[in-house]
Amino acid sequence: MRLVPLCLAAILCALLVNEATAETLRERMLRSYALQSGLVPPEETWVPQDPNVVAVGQRLFESKLLSSERDTACASCHLDRFGSADGLPTAIGVEGQSFGRTRVEFDGDKLPRNALPLWGRGGKGFDTMFWDGRVTRTKEGLISQFGSTPPSDDPLVVAAHLPPLELGEMVMDRDGRYQAYEAEDVATAMSFAGTIVDRLRKESPLIEQLSTATDIPAPEITFTDVMRAVASFIAFNYRLQETRFHAFVFGGGALSEQEVRGGLVFYGKGQCVSCHNGPYFSDQAFHVIAFPQFGYGFNGFGTDYGRYNMTQDPGDLFRFRTAPLFNVTRTAPYSHSGSVSSLSEAIRYHVDPLAVEPSKNFTAEDRQLYARRIGAWAADYPLTATLDNADIDDLTAFLAALEYESERPVVEIQP
Ligand code: HEC
Ligand code: HEC
Repeated sequence: MRLVPLCLAAILCALLVNEATAETLRERMLRSYALQSGLVPPEETWVPQDPNVVAVGQRLFESKLLSSERDTACASCHLDRFGSADGLPTAIGVEGQSFGRTRVEFDGDKLPRNALPLWGRGGKGFDTMFWDGRVTRTKEGLISQFGSTPPSDDPLVVAAHLPPLELGEMVMDRDGRYQAYEAEDVATAMSFAGTIVDRLRKESPLIEQLSTATDIPAPEITFTDVMRAVASFIAFNYRLQETRFHAFVFGGGALSEQEVRGGLVFYGKGQCVSCHNGPYFSDQAFHVIAFPQFGYGFNGFGTDYGRYNMTQDPGDLFRFRTAPLFNVTRTAPYSHSGSVSSLSEAIRYHVDPLAVEPSKNFTAEDRQLYARRIGAWAADYPLTATLDNADIDDLTAFLAALEYESERPVVEIQP
């Protein structure tokens, strides 16, 4: 007689238990996906840095003496409040003023690409630098415009050499004064680098301080020593720290239900992990996403051929390095040309570009180019399922679990 209620209770109990284990099962799946994709505890990506060199490196990162007009520092475009980028679609260099959107109101030199943030740069395995992989460490050695004699085999050190020698970025691009650099000839560029070091030597205590920190006699300090210190600061300051997702994967920390759902879309039906993998959520390789192009573009006339500019291989047209995703919630606007204002829109463009593309404002040329990009995207992208708005909200929530803070505040440098 008691059998029926007992039975019912047992079934109910079984259902409840099932519900509970189903939940931990989802969490267990997410952990194991993350491990399979190459996520490691943050410390495993660290490269040891000398604290004295890091300290001088920070002062150099914040020094306007590195720019031809003494008005621009690394810290004019890599700012804490914009997640170590600049909050602009495309960066504004020499003669720029103010920060974020108001910088557009002044007459600074315009660059064709979105400023990259610095999280994890200089860490182990972060070998492909810039949107187009202009500087890359391979098994055969370092590839860059320095050819067979790169100043260092560390890709971050070589990458740090470029901004102070780049027209528009830190070298004045008007009146033809520095036009010689347009040839991008290494010898000319390095002679200008020598001028910068002489200036630092005369006008600041930084070369003396670097000499004390490195034991290199002050008169022997070169531009490469200076850039090694700047790179040392970047590698230390922005090195990966434990995020809530690391804590979940490695330390049994908790994520909200929505974050777990988003994580499962990321590793599951969204297949984000096929490109955003490894310790930095980037395969360090090049793919096409059908983001619209903003501004005049690296190749002019509103185009940017991306990786093709480096390899001249038609198969590389419109490819860009897979964006690493730590602190991506803080670095709007998105894409290589900063054409996308929100994270959810950036995700939508990956899977369903025609749903968001404002092509009604396009000229016939824009439409032609965009059609080519869509074609290249469709050939490359691992489309498995469509994602609805709820999936995209969940993905956005998941990406917020990848936030962490830098080691030290960086001073914002006004001209
Ligand atoms: C005018 C703004 C501006 C200034 C000044 C500037 N940067 Fe950048 N930075 C950018 C932009 C834009 C990019 C992306 C360029 C590209 O990939 O084509 C970038 C990319 C980088 C990267 C590559 C990051 C990656 O993910 O591969 C490093 C490293 C870097 N900058 C370091 C520096 C250092 C060091 C300085 C000072 C010596 C500096 N930047 C000055 C705008 C700036
Ligand atoms: C086929 C490889 C690939 C896949 C799959 C992929 N991405 Fe990307 N992702 C990229 C590349 C490449 C870029 C940079 C493209 C550009 O700027 O032109 C990027 C950029 C982004 C950005 C913008 C980052 C920034 O700093 O501008 C976000 C956010 C992003 N991806 C998230 C995702 C999510 C979420 C998924 C899964 C739905 C996903 N990606 C799937 C390759 C991929």
